[in-house]
Amino acid sequence: MARRMNQSGFDMSIVERITTPFYYYDMDLLQATLDQINHLTAGLPCCVHYALKANSNAHIISKISSSGLGCDLVSGGEIKAALEAGFLPQQMTFSGVGKTDWEIELGLNHEIGCFNVESVPELDIINQLAGTMGKTARVALRVNPDIDAHTHKFITTGTANDKFGISIESLPLVVKHARHLSNIHLRGLHFHIGSQITSMQPYVDLCKVINNLLDHFHQSGIDFEMINVGGGLGIDYLHPDTNAIPDFKTYFKTFGEHLKLRPNQMLHFELGRSIVGQCGTLIARVVFVKETCGKKFVILDAGMTDLIRPALYGAYHEIQNLSSSGGPTETYDIVGPVCESTDVFARARQLPVTSRGDIIAIRSAGAYGESMASRYNMRPLPGCIFSSET
Ligand code: LLP
Repeated sequence: MARRMNQSGFDMSIVERITTPFYYYDMDLLQATLDQINHLTAGLPCCVHYALKANSNAHIISKISSSGLGCDLVSGGEIKAALEAGFLPQQMTFSGVGKTDWEIELGLNHEIGCFNVESVPELDIINQLAGTMGKTARVALRVNPDIDAHTHKFITTGTANDKFGISIESLPLVVKHARHLSNIHLRGLHFHIGSQITSMQPYVDLCKVINNLLDHFHQSGIDFEMINVGGGLGIDYLHPDTNAIPDFKTYFKTFGEHLKLRPNQMLHFELGRSIVGQCGTLIARVVFVKETCGKKFVILDAGMTDLIRPALYGAYHEIQNLSSSGGPTETYDIVGPVCESTDVFARARQLPVTSRGDIIAIRSAGAYGESMASRYNMRPLPGCIFSSET
């Protein structure tokens, strides 16, 4: 089918081939993002893992695995998806506060690179299951560094209030305990302070905490082989085109400058949003434009079941009318069809005058978009299409 590019370079013929709403993925941008990460980390003693929870679309994760990244997983389902996508088990980390026995067994069976362990009961169960299976579990202890990442409270993970990790106070005893367990190989420490972090300061603070811990353990004769600093690097939701690739250079440099790694210590990252966030756009169609109580509503065929971030976190996403070629604008609330009052993508947003049938793009939706979709109201899951197929 002939391409019909609109003003922002989007091929409008796509919407005639696939039912809205659907995710459109810019695979060139994803590749450029991966190339940038590989370029910046080449030759350094580090390993970047892609956090599959951000987007576990089979096509997306195959592309990421073929670029050589490792992966960070939080469920047995993600382990299976990552194996199918070709990620190497030794480059897999398995995080999460509530790993069930079958998930641990799956990880042990495939001899994954590292279980990021969040508690003593979890450590003991992994040790026990590994013993029964005649395996040794490679483990990092997840530490809660009590650092406020100054991000949305729903996606802050590293403060004393959060359910994640082992407190710094109890860490020495847990390390001692782990080193005595016969089926555990303690590789290092793991941290993750939150998501959509846009200032480097929380990472500088994290480096200080880690340096102190490394000194402390060194004095007791313990040097870990790896440190995992988690993920969390934010993306620019306001300017998806001008800042399509996040500032990985400053991010990696921050750790290079502030973290005092010991010789032969490997640094691990678990990045999700910063890798896939900007390559995805949710494309929807306007079902109705309605006016009530002096307010104008654009009602889309996409809703919170397709992209829950605005409803759940009040998250901002750029919204564009791809059918419009400019002209006068109007103020609209842009909403979905789901029977929930939080099913709102944006309030009081300026859009070109919009009509039924117009095609709307909700930008920066590649991370925690499709992967958080649900079938609430018995709605079908959104479809997807890739720029490489168009
Ligand atoms: N590592 C661990 C242990 C994590 O819990 C997470 C994210 C990541 C890595 C990846 O973080 P990222 O680089 O993507 O920020 N649904 C929320 C975000 C939840 C993040 C959960 N953990 C959102 O839509 O903003």
